[in-house]
Amino acid sequence: MLLRAETVKKRFGKEEILKGISLDVKEKTFTVILGPSGSGKSTFLNTISGLMPPDEGKVWFREKEVTGMSEKERAQWKRKSVGYVFQEYLLLNNLTVRENIEIGRCPGREAFELGELVRILEIDGLLDKFPGQLSGGQKQRTAIARAVIKKPEILFCDEATGALDEANSKKVVELLYELKQQFGIAVLFVTHNSQIAQTADRVITIKDGLLYKDMINENPIPAKEMIWE
Ligand SMILES: Nc1ncnc2c1ncn2[C@@H]1O[C@H](COP(=O)(O)OP(=O)(O)OP(=O)(O)O)[C@@H](O)[C@H]1O
Ligand SMILES: [Mg+2]
Repeated sequence: MLLRAETVKKRFGKEEILKGISLDVKEKTFTVILGPSGSGKSTFLNTISGLMPPDEGKVWFREKEVTGMSEKERAQWKRKSVGYVFQEYLLLNNLTVRENIEIGRCPGREAFELGELVRILEIDGLLDKFPGQLSGGQKQRTAIARAVIKKPEILFCDEATGALDEANSKKVVELLYELKQQFGIAVLFVTHNSQIAQTADRVITIKDGLLYKDMINENPIPAKEMIWE
C-alpha cells in the first residue's frame, strides 16, 4: 500500500468536519474524489497529504506513519515524495516558467529532465515567459510541471481543473493520466466534475465528512477517450 488513512477525523471549532474516513491508496493508481461542496474533500486531502494534522486517526505512507513523524521528517517526506496542485496555480509571478518549475526540484532525488517534462506537458515554448503572459491552462500545466519535476510518488490535486474550460480541463486530466501510466505517479484528484471518473481506477465520494461511496473502476478508459457531455 502506498498511502493509508485510518479513521481520520477533523474538527473546526465545535463542528466535526471529517467524521472518520479510512482509505487505502495503491501505488500507480488514479483516484478521483467526488462530493458536494462543503462535504470535506479538501479537508480530507489536506489531512492525508501532510498539510494539516488530523485530530484523530492515522495516516501512513508505505511503512512510515506520517501522523507520527516529527515536523522535520514530515517536511522531508513532502519535499521528496509528494506533489501538490491547487486550483489557483500558485505560481510566482516574478519568475519565468522555467524558474517556477525548477523550484520543485528536490536535491538528491531522481528527477525529470526539464526538456522532457515540458515537452510532455506541452509548455516547451513558454519557458522564458512570465505567468502573467500565460493562459489558465498553460499556468496549470506549469504548476503541474513544478509539482512533478522531482518524480513524486504521489500527487494531490485539489480542483486542479476548477478554473479551466472544458478543453483545458481535459488536457490536464490527460496529462496526469499519462504521468500515472508512464511514470507510475499515483494521483489523488478532488473534483466536482464526475465525468473525470470515467478514466479513474477508483472513484470515492465523500458526503458529510464520511466515505459515502467507493467504486473500483474495472475498465477505466484512457483519458484521451473520455466523453464529456
Ligand atoms: N480552516 C477552516 N476553518 C474552519 N472551517 C473550515 C476550514 N476549512 C474548511 N472548513 C469547513 O469545513 C467544511 C468542509 O470544507 P472543505 O473545504 O473540506 O469542503 P469541500 O468538500 O472541499 O468543498 P468544495 O467542494 O466547496 O471545495 C466546510 O463547512 C468549511 O466551511
Ligand atoms: Mg474543496
